[in-house]
Amino acid sequence: MIKKGELYYPDTAAKKRAWLKSKSVYALAEKNPVKFWESVAKELVWRKKWTKAYAGTPPHIKWFVGAKLNITENCLDRNLVTRKNKVAIIWEPDDSNQAARTITYYQLYREVNKFANALKKLGVKKGDRVGIYLPMIPEVVIAMLACARIGAVHSVVFSAFSSQALQVRLQDAGAKVLVTVDGYYRRGKITDLKKQADEGLEGTAVERVVVVKRAGNQIPWTQARDVWYEDIVRGESDECAAAVMDAEDPMFILYTSGSTGKPKGALHTCGGYMVSAYASDKWIFDLTDDDIFWSTADIGWVTGHTYSCYGPLLNGTTFIQFEGSPDYPNPDRWAGVIDKYGVTVFYTAPTAIRMFMKNGTDILKPYTMKTLEVLGSVGEPISEKAWNWYFKEVGKGRCPILDTWWQTETGGIIATSLPGIGPFKPAHTGLALPGIRIRVVDEAGKLCKPGQEGSVVLFPPFCPSLLRGVWQNEQKFTDTYWSQYKNKYYFSGDLGYKDKNGLLRVVGRADDMIKVAGHRLTTGELESAACKAPQVAECAVVGVVDEIKGEVPVAFVVPKSQTDVAGMKENVVAAIRSTIGPIATPHEVFVVTDLPKTRSGKIMRRILRKVFTKEELGDLSTLANPESVESIKNTVNPA
Ligand code: WTA
Repeated sequence: MIKKGELYYPDTAAKKRAWLKSKSVYALAEKNPVKFWESVAKELVWRKKWTKAYAGTPPHIKWFVGAKLNITENCLDRNLVTRKNKVAIIWEPDDSNQAARTITYYQLYREVNKFANALKKLGVKKGDRVGIYLPMIPEVVIAMLACARIGAVHSVVFSAFSSQALQVRLQDAGAKVLVTVDGYYRRGKITDLKKQADEGLEGTAVERVVVVKRAGNQIPWTQARDVWYEDIVRGESDECAAAVMDAEDPMFILYTSGSTGKPKGALHTCGGYMVSAYASDKWIFDLTDDDIFWSTADIGWVTGHTYSCYGPLLNGTTFIQFEGSPDYPNPDRWAGVIDKYGVTVFYTAPTAIRMFMKNGTDILKPYTMKTLEVLGSVGEPISEKAWNWYFKEVGKGRCPILDTWWQTETGGIIATSLPGIGPFKPAHTGLALPGIRIRVVDEAGKLCKPGQEGSVVLFPPFCPSLLRGVWQNEQKFTDTYWSQYKNKYYFSGDLGYKDKNGLLRVVGRADDMIKVAGHRLTTGELESAACKAPQVAECAVVGVVDEIKGEVPVAFVVPKSQTDVAGMKENVVAAIRSTIGPIATPHEVFVVTDLPKTRSGKIMRRILRKVFTKEELGDLSTLANPESVESIKNTVNPA
């Protein structure tokens, strides 16, 4: 990289490998974003071309109107022509002593078709929802693609979510079939996922459960309902005609945290999602046939969907699917994987980078990581310190750091400076992708000046893969994303600013979303989970800064009875873990007599956070119960 002042630019080597090298692409795209997206869409295979590329009135927009396609024909069939025996997936197990697996494009094609045929025999039809509760094993990709092959709508549920979290998602989606696993390995231990899945099935419409064999652990079995994956694919044909999908047909639902207990099902559609996944992965990570791409995100999150499944397959890339944790069995595992496979593009989260940083550079001495060419970051703001460490110690000053900003709702990355163009600035996301209009506006919708913080929004035509709705909840869709600017702009809920160079920096959220080790949660959903503990009368959760995880939840609970508080903290932790999952475990739980409230009864979470971090509290005179603060202070910091 070449440094000019506080900015970095690609050098000749970085430019050479890039698809997009000239700044002029931005002006071209800005002139007519729709035309620009059309030109990239033409690189893909369609059964029928669109009659109009962009239509509709926000919040109901459409892309590639009238077009017909099947994403799997682009992920699989298309690649058989020139990449039939190329490796698609390199699967690296949790236990480095177990054998890795590689799956070629042709093998993947056959497996997907077999499973697609098997799903059809189980009664799955176009438009039906299929729940997928699988860890990072190749079958998760096979299952997603098999659904897409026959036009079923998949809804992947993160395997570390609890059975209750699975249940509400399956219920909301109305899933008919669930695909899960006997058990899987995480840090050397087996998680009994089938047992957990069974608990989550109660009260759902799931009729059949397909079980992949991975850990060989003992599992509960319901004869009329459960089938082994290997049994139903055996003997199936390896050809399955791809369902011809309309560009605006639903493709998948991915749930994200809601502000209350109920998650929202972000709905993505076939055509727009395919185009964004393809183009973003191609332009941003500059994928070519020589790349080994490793995105560390779990498939249960949107980053996993787009960059550990669809994006690389649409580009015919070889990618790594890692079952384990980057620091298991040793803190250098991740660097070992990079060297072992010659990873060229590495995409991870600031929480991982902070952990690597904390473990120090000594353990990295045995690794050259010389194959790396592009580095990415996603999920939360990356600090200057982490950016510089990543740049120097992992990228050796050679690789651009792409701080990619996007959301479950946008389906694909929509902002980051591009590797062949730049500029890159520590802790800044940089520019919106060509063809995407990201603006920072004030409450009135007026453009903010450089350096002025405001709301990060999208202007029309938004992006091809923007969510088309919240599954079966139109009200939530319009309220959450469109009401703030009267359907004119898409409201991301993020706060940020553009610097004097026009580079975007996202600083945080306008709502109660928190990111715990990169996992998207809301304090609202944690509160409603905590309230399930029988002794709890009232609860407030705040996110506080954590060195490694970025943020962690801290809960303040008011008991129903001051004399019945035995075991209350443990019960609150248990309620949160069983409602959401271990990732949501509060860092601390404080039992308090009262919560600070305004005269209108609103809980002042800001004050709770400040008490915890021992910050100056400021004026408390607007509180209805200022005395509560003194008592909370004593509980949090006993003398
Ligand atoms: C945050 C993850 C700052 C942001 C792809 C967004 C970021 C939310 C960045 C979406 C980034 C994601 N810099 N903040 N580079 N990337 N975020 O749906 O608040 O899990 O709205 O999608 O993560 O989280 P989600």
